[in-house]
Amino acid sequence: MGRLTDRVVLVTGGSRGIGRAIVETAVREGAAVAFFDLEEKAGIALREELTANGGRVVFAQVDVTDGQALSTAVADVLAAYGCVDVLVNNAGRNVYADPVSMTEAEWDQVFDVDLKAAFLCAKHTLPSMIERGGGSIVNIASLHAKLTCDGMYPYAAAKSGLVGLTRSMALNVAKHGVRVNAVSPGYIRTALVDEYFAQHPDRDVERKALEVHPLGRIGTAEEVAEVVCFLASDAASFVTGADWAVDGGLGVRFA
Ligand SMILES: NC(=O)c1ccc[n+]([C@@H]2O[C@H](COP(=O)([O-])OP(=O)(O)OC[C@H]3O[C@@H](n4cnc5c(N)ncnc54)[C@H](O)[C@@H]3O)[C@@H](O)[C@H]2O)c1
Repeated sequence: MGRLTDRVVLVTGGSRGIGRAIVETAVREGAAVAFFDLEEKAGIALREELTANGGRVVFAQVDVTDGQALSTAVADVLAAYGCVDVLVNNAGRNVYADPVSMTEAEWDQVFDVDLKAAFLCAKHTLPSMIERGGGSIVNIASLHAKLTCDGMYPYAAAKSGLVGLTRSMALNVAKHGVRVNAVSPGYIRTALVDEYFAQHPDRDVERKALEVHPLGRIGTAEEVAEVVCFLASDAASFVTGADWAVDGGLGVRFA
Protein backbone atom coordinates (compact mmCIF):
# COMPACT_ATOMS: atom_id res chain seq x y z
CA MET A 1 0.00 0.00 0.00
CA GLY A 2 1.29 3.45 -0.92
CA ARG A 3 0.75 6.58 1.13
CA LEU A 4 -1.87 7.82 -1.36
CA THR A 5 -3.58 4.59 -2.37
CA ASP A 6 -7.14 5.21 -3.63
CA ARG A 7 -6.69 8.97 -3.43
CA VAL A 8 -7.35 11.34 -6.33
CA VAL A 9 -4.60 13.95 -6.59
CA LEU A 10 -4.76 17.06 -8.79
CA VAL A 11 -1.46 18.83 -9.51
CA THR A 12 -1.08 22.16 -11.32
CA GLY A 13 2.03 22.83 -13.40
CA GLY A 14 2.69 19.09 -13.56
CA SER A 15 4.42 18.86 -16.95
CA ARG A 16 7.93 19.60 -15.70
CA GLY A 17 10.10 20.44 -12.71
CA ILE A 18 8.73 20.09 -9.18
CA GLY A 19 5.18 19.52 -10.47
CA ARG A 20 6.32 16.60 -12.63
CA ALA A 21 8.09 15.02 -9.65
CA ILE A 22 4.91 15.42 -7.57
CA VAL A 23 2.86 13.70 -10.30
CA GLU A 24 5.37 10.82 -10.50
CA THR A 25 5.64 10.42 -6.72
CA ALA A 26 1.85 10.49 -6.21
CA VAL A 27 1.40 7.80 -8.89
CA ARG A 28 4.09 5.68 -7.22
CA GLU A 29 2.26 6.14 -3.89
CA GLY A 30 -0.90 4.67 -5.40
CA ALA A 31 -2.92 7.78 -6.34
CA ALA A 32 -4.99 8.42 -9.43
CA VAL A 33 -3.51 11.67 -10.69
CA ALA A 34 -4.80 14.53 -12.83
CA PHE A 35 -2.48 17.34 -13.81
CA PHE A 36 -2.92 20.67 -15.56
CA ASP A 37 -0.27 22.64 -17.41
CA LEU A 38 0.20 25.11 -20.26
CA GLU A 39 2.85 22.78 -21.77
CA GLU A 40 0.80 20.34 -23.82
CA LYS A 41 3.56 18.31 -25.49
CA ALA A 42 5.41 17.57 -22.25
CA GLY A 43 2.13 16.89 -20.45
CA ILE A 44 0.97 14.33 -23.00
CA ALA A 45 4.38 12.65 -23.02
CA LEU A 46 4.35 12.34 -19.21
CA ARG A 47 0.80 10.99 -19.19
CA GLU A 48 1.71 8.41 -21.84
CA GLU A 49 4.84 7.33 -19.96
CA LEU A 50 3.00 6.88 -16.65
CA THR A 51 -0.07 5.16 -18.07
CA ALA A 52 2.16 2.76 -20.04
CA ASN A 53 3.57 1.69 -16.67
CA GLY A 54 0.10 1.09 -15.20
CA GLY A 55 -0.50 4.51 -13.61
CA ARG A 56 -3.93 6.16 -13.60
CA VAL A 57 -3.17 9.60 -15.01
CA VAL A 58 -5.11 12.26 -16.89
CA PHE A 59 -3.69 15.49 -18.28
CA ALA A 60 -5.37 18.66 -19.52
CA GLN A 61 -3.81 21.73 -21.09
CA VAL A 62 -5.21 24.46 -18.83
CA ASP A 63 -4.13 27.97 -17.93
CA VAL A 64 -4.73 27.96 -14.17
CA THR A 65 -5.29 31.72 -14.17
CA ASP A 66 -8.41 31.24 -16.33
CA GLY A 67 -11.31 30.58 -13.93
CA GLN A 68 -13.72 29.46 -16.65
CA ALA A 69 -11.26 26.97 -18.19
CA LEU A 70 -10.41 25.68 -14.70
CA SER A 71 -14.05 25.13 -13.83
CA THR A 72 -14.48 22.97 -16.96
CA ALA A 73 -11.23 21.08 -16.44
CA VAL A 74 -12.02 20.28 -12.78
CA ALA A 75 -15.50 19.09 -13.83
CA ASP A 76 -13.78 16.72 -16.30
CA VAL A 77 -11.54 15.37 -13.49
CA LEU A 78 -14.60 14.82 -11.28
CA ALA A 79 -16.33 13.01 -14.17
CA ALA A 80 -13.24 10.81 -14.69
CA TYR A 81 -12.41 9.99 -11.06
CA GLY A 82 -15.53 10.91 -9.03
CA CYS A 83 -13.78 13.25 -6.57
CA VAL A 84 -10.63 15.22 -5.77
CA ASP A 85 -8.98 14.31 -2.44
CA VAL A 86 -5.77 16.29 -2.81
CA LEU A 87 -4.98 19.54 -4.62
CA VAL A 88 -1.37 20.63 -5.13
CA ASN A 89 -1.10 24.26 -6.24
CA ASN A 90 2.34 24.09 -7.82
CA ALA A 91 2.15 26.17 -11.04
CA GLY A 92 4.20 29.31 -10.60
CA ARG A 93 6.66 31.63 -12.29
CA ASN A 94 9.62 33.80 -11.40
CA VAL A 95 9.70 37.55 -11.89
CA TYR A 96 12.62 39.95 -12.31
CA ALA A 97 10.92 43.36 -12.24
CA ASP A 98 11.52 46.60 -10.34
CA PRO A 99 8.96 48.80 -8.57
CA VAL A 100 9.23 51.74 -10.99
CA SER A 101 9.29 50.16 -14.44
CA MET A 102 6.93 47.26 -13.70
CA THR A 103 3.56 47.83 -15.39
CA GLU A 104 0.18 47.07 -13.82
CA ALA A 105 -0.36 44.36 -16.44
CA GLU A 106 2.95 42.67 -15.50
CA TRP A 107 2.02 42.84 -11.79
CA ASP A 108 -1.34 41.19 -12.53
CA GLN A 109 0.30 38.43 -14.60
CA VAL A 110 2.59 37.49 -11.70
CA PHE A 111 -0.07 37.56 -9.01
CA ASP A 112 -2.55 35.71 -11.25
CA VAL A 113 -0.21 32.70 -11.49
CA ASP A 114 1.60 32.79 -8.14
CA LEU A 115 -1.39 33.65 -5.93
CA LYS A 116 -4.82 33.92 -7.56
CA ALA A 117 -4.58 30.52 -9.27
CA ALA A 118 -4.32 28.81 -5.86
CA PHE A 119 -7.58 30.46 -4.79
CA LEU A 120 -9.26 29.52 -8.09
CA CYS A 121 -8.14 25.87 -7.97
CA ALA A 122 -9.27 25.57 -4.34
CA LYS A 123 -12.58 27.23 -5.17
CA HIS A 124 -13.33 24.56 -7.78
CA THR A 125 -12.03 21.50 -5.88
CA LEU A 126 -13.09 22.25 -2.28
CA PRO A 127 -16.78 21.38 -2.88
CA SER A 128 -15.73 17.78 -3.65
CA MET A 129 -13.57 17.61 -0.50
CA ILE A 130 -16.23 19.21 1.73
CA GLU A 131 -18.89 16.84 0.39
CA ARG A 132 -16.71 13.85 1.36
CA GLY A 133 -15.73 15.36 4.73
CA GLY A 134 -11.98 15.53 4.13
CA GLY A 135 -9.13 16.42 1.84
CA SER A 136 -5.77 18.10 1.65
CA ILE A 137 -4.41 21.14 -0.19
CA VAL A 138 -0.69 21.77 -0.55
CA ASN A 139 0.47 25.15 -1.86
CA ILE A 140 3.98 25.38 -3.26
CA ALA A 141 5.24 28.69 -1.86
CA SER A 142 8.94 29.52 -1.54
CA LEU A 143 11.75 30.42 0.83
CA HIS A 144 11.12 33.91 -0.63
CA ALA A 145 8.04 34.11 1.61
CA LYS A 146 10.50 34.60 4.50
CA LEU A 147 13.79 35.80 2.99
CA THR A 148 14.36 37.20 -0.45
CA CYS A 149 17.11 38.56 -2.69
CA ASP A 150 17.49 41.64 -4.82
CA GLY A 151 16.32 41.43 -8.43
CA MET A 152 13.23 39.28 -7.93
CA TYR A 153 10.67 41.99 -7.13
CA PRO A 154 7.81 41.28 -6.27
CA TYR A 155 8.08 37.45 -6.09
CA ALA A 156 8.39 37.57 -2.27
CA ALA A 157 5.08 39.44 -2.05
CA ALA A 158 3.24 36.83 -4.12
CA LYS A 159 4.73 33.87 -2.23
CA SER A 160 4.16 35.56 1.18
CA GLY A 161 0.58 36.01 0.06
CA LEU A 162 0.37 32.31 -0.73
CA VAL A 163 1.55 31.39 2.78
CA GLY A 164 -1.03 33.82 4.21
CA LEU A 165 -3.70 32.28 2.00
CA THR A 166 -2.67 28.87 3.34
CA ARG A 167 -3.29 29.96 6.96
CA SER A 168 -6.52 31.72 6.12
CA MET A 169 -7.91 28.79 4.15
CA ALA A 170 -6.72 26.23 6.72
CA LEU A 171 -8.84 27.90 9.40
CA ASN A 172 -11.81 28.27 7.10
CA VAL A 173 -12.04 24.62 5.99
CA ALA A 174 -10.78 22.81 9.12
CA LYS A 175 -14.37 22.24 10.22
CA HIS A 176 -14.83 20.12 7.06
CA GLY A 177 -11.80 17.95 7.81
CA VAL A 178 -9.79 19.58 5.02
CA ARG A 179 -6.12 20.39 5.76
CA VAL A 180 -4.23 23.17 3.97
CA ASN A 181 -0.45 23.48 4.13
CA ALA A 182 2.35 25.24 2.29
CA VAL A 183 5.70 23.83 1.22
CA SER A 184 8.50 26.37 0.79
CA PRO A 185 11.38 25.13 -1.35
CA GLY A 186 14.74 26.88 -1.40
CA TYR A 187 16.98 26.36 -4.45
CA ILE A 188 15.70 23.31 -6.36
CA ARG A 189 17.37 22.21 -9.61
CA THR A 190 14.67 22.93 -12.24
CA ALA A 191 14.35 25.07 -15.38
CA LEU A 192 13.15 27.93 -13.16
CA VAL A 193 16.37 27.99 -11.16
CA ASP A 194 18.52 27.54 -14.30
CA GLU A 195 16.69 30.58 -15.72
CA TYR A 196 17.43 32.54 -12.51
CA PHE A 197 21.15 31.72 -12.70
CA ALA A 198 21.26 32.46 -16.45
CA GLN A 199 19.66 35.93 -16.19
CA HIS A 200 21.68 36.99 -13.11
CA PRO A 201 24.27 39.73 -13.76
CA ASP A 202 26.76 37.99 -11.40
CA ARG A 203 28.26 35.11 -13.43
CA ASP A 204 29.39 33.53 -10.16
CA VAL A 205 25.91 33.42 -8.60
CA GLU A 206 25.50 29.63 -8.79
CA ARG A 207 28.76 28.92 -6.97
CA LYS A 208 27.91 31.52 -4.30
CA ALA A 209 24.45 29.97 -3.82
CA LEU A 210 26.01 26.53 -3.34
CA GLU A 211 28.51 27.89 -0.84
CA VAL A 212 25.84 29.16 1.59
CA HIS A 213 23.83 25.93 1.65
CA PRO A 214 24.32 24.18 5.01
CA LEU A 215 23.86 20.82 3.25
CA GLY A 216 26.33 21.90 0.58
CA ARG A 217 24.08 21.37 -2.42
CA ILE A 218 20.92 22.47 -4.23
CA GLY A 219 17.83 20.27 -3.76
CA THR A 220 16.04 18.02 -6.23
CA ALA A 221 12.43 18.16 -7.37
CA GLU A 222 11.97 14.65 -5.94
CA GLU A 223 12.96 15.86 -2.47
CA VAL A 224 10.17 18.46 -2.60
CA ALA A 225 7.69 15.91 -3.97
CA GLU A 226 8.33 13.56 -1.02
CA VAL A 227 7.35 16.28 1.48
CA VAL A 228 4.31 17.27 -0.58
CA CYS A 229 3.06 13.66 -0.71
CA PHE A 230 3.67 13.28 3.04
CA LEU A 231 1.61 16.41 3.78
CA ALA A 232 -1.10 15.23 1.38
CA SER A 233 -1.32 11.85 3.09
CA ASP A 234 -2.92 10.69 6.35
CA ALA A 235 0.57 10.49 7.86
CA ALA A 236 0.22 14.28 8.29
CA SER A 237 -3.33 14.09 9.68
CA PHE A 238 -2.66 16.64 12.48
CA VAL A 239 -0.78 19.13 10.28
CA THR A 240 -2.69 22.11 8.94
CA GLY A 241 -1.87 25.78 8.34
CA ALA A 242 1.85 24.96 8.34
CA ASP A 243 4.61 26.20 6.06
CA TRP A 244 7.21 23.43 5.59
CA ALA A 245 10.67 24.46 4.46
CA VAL A 246 12.48 22.19 1.99
CA ASP A 247 15.61 24.27 1.62
CA GLY A 248 18.62 22.31 2.88
CA GLY A 249 18.77 24.59 5.93
CA LEU A 250 19.27 27.82 3.95
CA GLY A 251 16.32 29.52 5.69
CA VAL A 252 17.81 29.19 9.17
CA ARG A 253 21.19 30.61 8.24
CA PHE A 254 22.22 33.97 9.68
CA ALA A 255 25.83 34.02 8.55
N1 LIG B 1 12.82 25.61 -8.48
C1 LIG B 1 12.98 26.26 -7.34
O1 LIG B 1 14.10 26.43 -6.85
C2 LIG B 1 11.79 26.77 -6.59
C3 LIG B 1 12.02 27.36 -5.35
C4 LIG B 1 10.95 27.83 -4.60
C5 LIG B 1 9.68 27.72 -5.10
N2 LIG B 1 9.45 27.18 -6.33
C6 LIG B 1 8.07 27.08 -6.80
O2 LIG B 1 7.81 25.74 -7.17
C7 LIG B 1 6.83 25.74 -8.22
C8 LIG B 1 7.35 24.92 -9.40
O3 LIG B 1 8.56 25.48 -9.82
P1 LIG B 1 9.54 24.75 -10.85
O4 LIG B 1 10.91 25.15 -10.47
O5 LIG B 1 9.19 23.33 -11.00
O6 LIG B 1 9.16 25.58 -12.18
P2 LIG B 1 9.10 25.14 -13.71
O7 LIG B 1 9.08 26.44 -14.47
O8 LIG B 1 10.13 24.13 -14.03
O9 LIG B 1 7.66 24.45 -13.81
C9 LIG B 1 6.50 25.19 -13.62
C10 LIG B 1 5.38 24.55 -14.42
O10 LIG B 1 4.20 25.34 -14.21
C11 LIG B 1 3.58 25.53 -15.47
N3 LIG B 1 2.78 26.77 -15.46
C12 LIG B 1 3.25 28.02 -15.32
N4 LIG B 1 2.22 28.89 -15.43
C13 LIG B 1 1.09 28.16 -15.64
C14 LIG B 1 -0.27 28.49 -15.85
N5 LIG B 1 -0.69 29.76 -15.89
N6 LIG B 1 -1.15 27.48 -16.03
C15 LIG B 1 -0.73 26.20 -16.01
N7 LIG B 1 0.55 25.82 -15.83
C16 LIG B 1 1.45 26.80 -15.66
C17 LIG B 1 4.73 25.62 -16.46
O11 LIG B 1 4.30 25.38 -17.79
C18 LIG B 1 5.68 24.55 -15.94
O12 LIG B 1 5.40 23.28 -16.49
C19 LIG B 1 6.56 27.20 -8.56
O13 LIG B 1 5.40 27.65 -7.87
C20 LIG B 1 7.80 27.92 -8.03
O14 LIG B 1 7.52 29.28 -7.71
C21 LIG B 1 10.49 26.70 -7.08
